[in-house]
Amino acid sequence: MIVPHTTDTPAPTPTVRKAVVPAAGLGTRFLPATKATPKEMLPVVDKPAIQYVVEEAAAAGLDDVLMVTGRHKRAIEDHFDHAFELEQALAAKGDAVRLDAVRDPARLANIHHIRQGEPLGLGHAVLCARRHVGDQPFAVLLGDDLIDPRETLLSTMLDVRERYAGSVIALMEVPREQIHLYGCAAVEPTEEEGVVRVTGLVEKPSPETAPSTYAVIGRYVLDPAVFDVLDRTAPGRGGEIQLTDALQTLATDGTVHGVVFEGLRYDTGDKADYLRTVVRLACARPDLGPEFTTWLKGFVAELEGREGAGRGRGLAA
Ligand code: UTP
Repeated sequence: MIVPHTTDTPAPTPTVRKAVVPAAGLGTRFLPATKATPKEMLPVVDKPAIQYVVEEAAAAGLDDVLMVTGRHKRAIEDHFDHAFELEQALAAKGDAVRLDAVRDPARLANIHHIRQGEPLGLGHAVLCARRHVGDQPFAVLLGDDLIDPRETLLSTMLDVRERYAGSVIALMEVPREQIHLYGCAAVEPTEEEGVVRVTGLVEKPSPETAPSTYAVIGRYVLDPAVFDVLDRTAPGRGGEIQLTDALQTLATDGTVHGVVFEGLRYDTGDKADYLRTVVRLACARPDLGPEFTTWLKGFVAELEGREGAGRGRGLAA
């Protein structure tokens, strides 16, 4: 039986369908590779990082994805579009596997693009999505932040949003000396294991002043109320409109919750983390993993041998 919505029954929480993927940053940490290529398009094994992000959104049931792109718009747009010549050539060869690989990105979701004219910060990139998103809750997945495909973080966050309403952010505990690299959340426990109430947020605090060691990572489920707040948010740290500052305003109303994530997450915009991502995901691939892992073990043994020999020479000296 369908129960009609009356003023006595609370309005059902709207379901999240749309995802926004900001990918308009300058990527200065990865220069010179990112001079003419967006960092979100750097390959992780054989797919660009941003494809894993869109696959994650699709796996969580989000069928509408808006990419917020910058000056390198073309590469991202082309990747999620059809490539007729390539498809024809592969079809003519009967290469069904590669044909699927070429077609898959365009089939993942309804993909839209909008341009952030100037990289004025993550908060500004999210604000650019306002008209497309409308008055509905939506997810934000940073295009260079990769959650291991075996994890289910986004689905958990969507579930928390259904039950608590408001906005939901993803948090990860980091060593205190690294907290200055992230947004940081002050939290209170809820009755639920792994879900916290966020009482405050601060962007890139010093280890001494950080309210906790909970770092904000690149997954959000946001209430549309964030748009009005972003509209009023003045540029903060680095002259950029910070999403963290807008979330801080929402947190003071008690409407932000955090999901504590303990799984595997990679910042592919950071060189060292990018390398770790490629190695981990390559090892997990059924087609490449066994051979690559054997090689890797040999390589590590070789390194250890060299180190041991170095130490030996050190002792002898
Ligand atoms: P980062 O904080 O990694 O900044 O952005 P960045 O400028 O891209 O990279 P670095 O620090 O210079 O190397 C986090 C995410 O937000 C997007 C980025 O594309 C990335 O996915 N972003 C950032 C925007 O879309 N617009 C902006 O103005 C800033």
